[in-house]
Amino acid sequence: MAFKRRSLGVLNVVSCALVALVSFRYLFGLGPVPPSISQNAFADPWLVLHVAGAATALLLSPLQLFPQLRTRAPRWHRWLGRVYMLGCTVGGVSGAVLAWGSAAGPVATAGFGSLAFVWLYTTTAGWWHAARGRIFQHRAWMVRSFSLTYAAVTLRVYLAILPALPIAFLDGYRAIAFLCWVPNLVIAELLIRRWRWASPGTAGAPGMASPPGQMAPPLRGS
Ligand code: HEM
Repeated sequence: MAFKRRSLGVLNVVSCALVALVSFRYLFGLGPVPPSISQNAFADPWLVLHVAGAATALLLSPLQLFPQLRTRAPRWHRWLGRVYMLGCTVGGVSGAVLAWGSAAGPVATAGFGSLAFVWLYTTTAGWWHAARGRIFQHRAWMVRSFSLTYAAVTLRVYLAILPALPIAFLDGYRAIAFLCWVPNLVIAELLIRRWRWASPGTAGAPGMASPPGQMAPPLRGS
């Protein structure tokens, strides 16, 4: 069980770092821009802004899940959390603009646009609960937010599989605008429910439980 958990942790860190670092190439004008992306009506200047914010959030997200960082270096957890929040805000707002300009049409706009809205909502809710010291709710909302940040990884996995499927690229791309994030959010929700069953009265994982109603110190002043 511990081995399985560690392997999943390593996979999470490596996949997030890989996609984030490769995405940073847009900031330096390196490598080709896929035609489907350069045709986006708002690519200039929103793509660079989107990559700067979203890829930073993706790079930081696995670190925030490490229990060692949370318990041994809470200051780091809080500062990285603020940078994550800023990255999600910049990445989410610019992602919504890019969704509106997608050359793949209204279905892709709906898929990416709703992802942007839910991403901004879950991240803001996570911060809101943390700022009030409601640590269990904070964790539940941040797990939802991370599952959506991870859409950047799942999207690229599905795009790699797409050419092997007997469907037109554009149809597949439109489906992926939803498939890259809805299953992630469902898995996050199932995980949170499992933790709740294991620790009734909390939204935290087993081992993180404290008496129901007990709060951690608020974030202010850290
Ligand atoms: C989770 C909320 C996100 C939303 C709503 C979103 C939205 C979008 C949209 C609409 C596009 C343009 C697609 C098109 O024109 O068809 C795009 C492209 C892109 N996004 Fe995001 N995105 C999100 C997360 C991320 C994350 C976390 C990264 C981190 C690496 C990222 C990196 C990129 C890159 C590099 C592109 C350019 C296309 C490519 O090279 O594959 N996005 N995004």
